[in-house]
Amino acid sequence: MIPPIPRRGFTRAERGAVGLNTTQTPVALFEKCRQFTRAREIQAAGMYPYFKAISASEDTVVVIEGKRRIMLGSNNYLGLTHHPKVLEAAAAALHRYGAGCTGSRFLNGSLDLHEQLEHALAEFLGKESCIVFSTGYGANLGMISGLVGRGETIYLDKLDHACIVDGAKLAYGETQRFQHGNLESLVRLLDRNTSGRGTLIVVDGVYSMEGDIADVPELVRIARHYGAALAVDDAHALGVLGPNGEGTGAHFGMQSEVDLVAGTFSKSLASVGGFVAGREEVIHFLKHHSRPFIFTASLPPANTAGVIAALQVLQDEPERRDQLWANARRLQQGFQSLGFDIGPTQTPIVPVLIGPLDTTFLFWRKLYDAGVFTNPVVPPAVPPSQCRLRTSVMATHTPEQIDQALEAFATIGKELGVI
Ligand SMILES: Cc1ncc(COP(=O)(O)O)c(C=O)c1O
Repeated sequence: MIPPIPRRGFTRAERGAVGLNTTQTPVALFEKCRQFTRAREIQAAGMYPYFKAISASEDTVVVIEGKRRIMLGSNNYLGLTHHPKVLEAAAAALHRYGAGCTGSRFLNGSLDLHEQLEHALAEFLGKESCIVFSTGYGANLGMISGLVGRGETIYLDKLDHACIVDGAKLAYGETQRFQHGNLESLVRLLDRNTSGRGTLIVVDGVYSMEGDIADVPELVRIARHYGAALAVDDAHALGVLGPNGEGTGAHFGMQSEVDLVAGTFSKSLASVGGFVAGREEVIHFLKHHSRPFIFTASLPPANTAGVIAALQVLQDEPERRDQLWANARRLQQGFQSLGFDIGPTQTPIVPVLIGPLDTTFLFWRKLYDAGVFTNPVVPPAVPPSQCRLRTSVMATHTPEQIDQALEAFATIGKELGVI
């Protein structure tokens, strides 16, 4: 029998009597935390690349640990985080509506700004309706888990983003995964499904670790043949692909054939939040069935107004997209001419294949010391032998900044025997 904990807490003698005579009582659940030493070892070796705090930002240049560094690892594709119209709109909304919505869209947290943003996005994307979530992660989670019920099936590309995978885990339906970009293996899986129940295919429009583009025309053909719905996560395609930056469907001239477009505001739209756009009845259903939409606080006013402004700038200043692509080509060609392997990228996401984990961390550290910030991608995100430094350009990088980064890559690449 365990004695009850007295309301006033234990005296020293009582702690001893019930076996609480150490301040750190071992708890089996936390044993794995005690044994997790890998990150601390990398920290001790000075190679730890994560959680680097930025103390000031000028868009393409950030200050970390007191030193200015070229930011080559951001998804701020159009460089809108510092655009005067975005900042002005965010500041005005902050003063008009306050710092937060303090509630769910469903209850007290809906603003006219959210509705304005949903209408603007639906119109821009050529869809009937749109629903705004508090993150892009939540948008995919809410879209998939809200729509796919018992007996229904979700088909995922093996390199789909984690939030798509998690959305499928949260859904009551069954999940099948096909090899990355291998639509024959998707067809084989679909052939085996004789249930006649609802099916959803979900892909990334642009893959975040590789930079390649999903084959939307073939996916549409397959979806139509099997009566499946097709959802494209355009997190890395909005503002980047398509004649006006509408994303992957528009890039192929097939936007109307993509049933659901999901996306984020944390990349080209320079803020935080996400959305799903599609048929009115589907969006209406999600508004009443999507738990990651209903059971969380809504997007804060300043962010919402900032995204509305960013969406307008995206359309008013197409030259930003042209500059983004010019920069992407400069970076891709620069790496290739130096002899780096950048894989199958077709976009401003440019991964540089390094190989083993230790070399990748060392390469990252040397670049960091040379004033270039990149993102190391290591297992489980990629196989152990395919560690990489993921770079991504912005429209606002100058050619000199790109060349300076390439020079640093060249020097370190030769020193470490990568090229
Ligand atoms: C493909 C993809 N989908 C969704 C997300 C999630 O977006 P957010 O950062 O808005 O949660 C990301 C962000 O990393 C992403 O790369």
